[in-house]
Parts: sequence; C-alpha cells; structure tokens
Amino acid sequence: MKIIVTRTYDDMSKEAFRLVKEIVAKKKNACLGLATGSTPLGLYDLLVKDHLDNKTTYKDIKTVNLDEYVGLDKDNINSYAYFMRTNLFDKLDINLSNTFIPNGIASNYEEECNRYNKVLEELIPDIQILGIGSDGHIAFNEPNTPFSSLTHVTSLEESTIKDNSRLFNSIDEVPTKAFTQGIKNIMNAKQIVILASGKNKQNAVYNMIKGNVNESCPASVLQLHPNCIAIIDEDAAKLIM
Ligand code: GLP
Repeated sequence: MKIIVTRTYDDMSKEAFRLVKEIVAKKKNACLGLATGSTPLGLYDLLVKDHLDNKTTYKDIKTVNLDEYVGLDKDNINSYAYFMRTNLFDKLDINLSNTFIPNGIASNYEEECNRYNKVLEELIPDIQILGIGSDGHIAFNEPNTPFSSLTHVTSLEESTIKDNSRLFNSIDEVPTKAFTQGIKNIMNAKQIVILASGKNKQNAVYNMIKGNVNESCPASVLQLHPNCIAIIDEDAAKLIM
C-alpha cells in the first residue's frame, strides 16, 4: 500500500482528484467506484469544478457505488442514491442510467444482492474511492465480515449508527441495516484509493496500515491489494507517523 500524508483535508482531496482525473481524461468510458460519507465530498467538488472549467466529460463514464441503507428509496434525502445525485451526478453530464447503486427498497434481499453482484461482474472499477469508518469498516463491511464476502445485507454497528446519525434528524431515524458490496467485490477494483481525514479516524488508520491483516479490521485487507493508495490528512495520520 502506498501512503500519502497531506497537511489538510483540502490537500487530501486534491491528491485524490489528480488520480481520478487522470483516469477520466485517458479513458472516456472508464468505470469509477464511488463512496458516500463526508470524506469524498471535497473530491466530488473538485470533479464538478473541473467539469465546469475544463469541460471534462462524463458522457460515457459508468459508476458503481458501494452501498445503500435498507428501507430508504432513491428520493429519500438520507439515501446514498440521493447523496450521489445531489453531490455529484446532477452536476456532471453523466447519464444516470450509467450509475449503479443497490436498491434500498428491494424487498427480496437475496435477489437484490445477486443482481448487484452481476452488475459488479460486468463493471470492474478502474479506480475505487473508499472512506473508512471509525471502527475500520469499508463500505458497510463491519469488523469480522469475511474477506471472501460478496454483496450482502448487514446490520450496522452501534458506533456506525452513532457516527452516521449526524446526517439524520435523530439517531432513531438511522437505518439499522444496509446493502453493501462485500470485501471481495471491493478488492476486484484495478486501483483503490482510500481517504481518511480527522482525529476520529486515527485508530482505524493505524489498524489499516500497521495492524495485522485481519477481519477484525476490514480495511486491513487493503494491504493485500496490488494497487492501493491511502491518502490521509495529518490529523488522521498521527498514530502512523
Ligand atoms: C459510511 C459509509 C462508508 C464511509 C463511512 C465513513 O459508513 N458506508 O462508505 O466510508 O461512512 O464516512 P465519513 O466519510 O462521513 O466519515
């Protein structure tokens, strides 16, 4: 794993932007693996700015997202589908039919997971953007999820519900389950870029980089990926320096 420590959140976003832009500029029909959460928002803003300033086009770009809350439909303001549209897709010239995300209101979980795994067999990300949970989760693969996992429905840890509750009106509104790509799906990407910012990610970053490769820290699996870059701001990197 290559590690880049940046002074600030903005510098982290700029490093990530450079890597995504390189791919989008060189491969018009590239596949981008995308993440939600606060961490990639700076990167998404830079992609939008670049699209407006330099006319970088996303006409033939495809995207696959990592996860979605169970029970939230695509127009619910807390759904990840809504997050992606409002923070990125609606601001680019991307064709929404080229963007893929699990369907949060699918009633047959198994069928939806199989459908999404088929999507992921066809669409291998040229670059996968990841954030990290304070407990070391990637997508919604919580500690002790098997490294061999494919798309599945998972129960969220208390700490994840608490962390993510800041985006909801109250903690009781946070769904307790989510559809998530499995760790095996994520590891299929040709390149992985994991972003981490802020003091509350220090332990997770330490375990991801310095810890043993172990299912107790899902992000530690990235040590095994042949082309993974961690871009971490100084606040998140304190324990690895
Ligand atoms: C959620 C998402 C993850 C994300 C994590 C961290 O749990 N499922 O993909 O990495 O939050 O979010 P944030 O970037 O807001 O800290």
